[in-house]
Amino acid sequence: MKKATKVLTLALAVVMLTGVLTACGGGSKNGDTLTFGTNAEFPPFEFVTSNGVIGEYDGIDMAIAKQIADANGMTVAIENMEFDSLLVALQNGQIDAVIAGMTATDERRETVDFSTTYYTATQVMIVKEDSDITKATDMADKKICVVQGYTGEVCVQGMGYSYEAFKKGTEAVLELVNGKCDVVVIDSATAQKYVGDNEGLKIVEDASAFESEEYAIAVQKGNTELLDKINASIEKMLSDGTINELAVKYTEETSAE
Ligand code: ARG
Repeated sequence: MKKATKVLTLALAVVMLTGVLTACGGGSKNGDTLTFGTNAEFPPFEFVTSNGVIGEYDGIDMAIAKQIADANGMTVAIENMEFDSLLVALQNGQIDAVIAGMTATDERRETVDFSTTYYTATQVMIVKEDSDITKATDMADKKICVVQGYTGEVCVQGMGYSYEAFKKGTEAVLELVNGKCDVVVIDSATAQKYVGDNEGLKIVEDASAFESEEYAIAVQKGNTELLDKINASIEKMLSDGTINELAVKYTEETSAE
């Protein structure tokens, strides 16, 4: 009796697994829809707006996601969630891919596969205009703000400095504006946007302290079918200038607001 139940359970598991695998046709969990996870708190790559390129979502990444889906005859869908939840949602199959200005790091490569790089960035320091911070080591005795789970946090951790982590870039920048912290470490293009939006801030770069970071799209480990499609689209958008145009368009647009 016990054995029979076990066999039945196994059979059921096989049926369910087959169902899951079949639903993965085209490399996505739902054949016609390509669902990207993002964290729409990262202008100019993804932000919420009244009339975005995908519903309420707009930005460089959102335009790229839409073009990847279009190129493959699929409908694009966005699931907006906390940055920290993205890779877990990907592994769970809740989303097909992650596009979130996400840096392809070795640590992340342990759990997911990354596409071709579509954008290169670096960490920078946002400070008040009158700040005496000119290089990363000047942060040693300063109050540092980062965003939780971003590579900026990893960098500051690696330098051995203490810091405070916020959920959103806007919260960290508000802390700086209000004089409650001295420096925000965050990705370059997003920093430009925040400096454009707030009076009295400037960017300090330190190429010797911060390496360049490559943004790429993440898929589940081994999902080569979807990865190949994504890579083909990215390579086309890189070579025909689409990504460059998007970067210019969204950098200008978001800093003119
Ligand atoms: N590039 C950084 C990282 O990968 C920050 C990305 C933040 N992206 C976002 N959509 N909130 O950790």
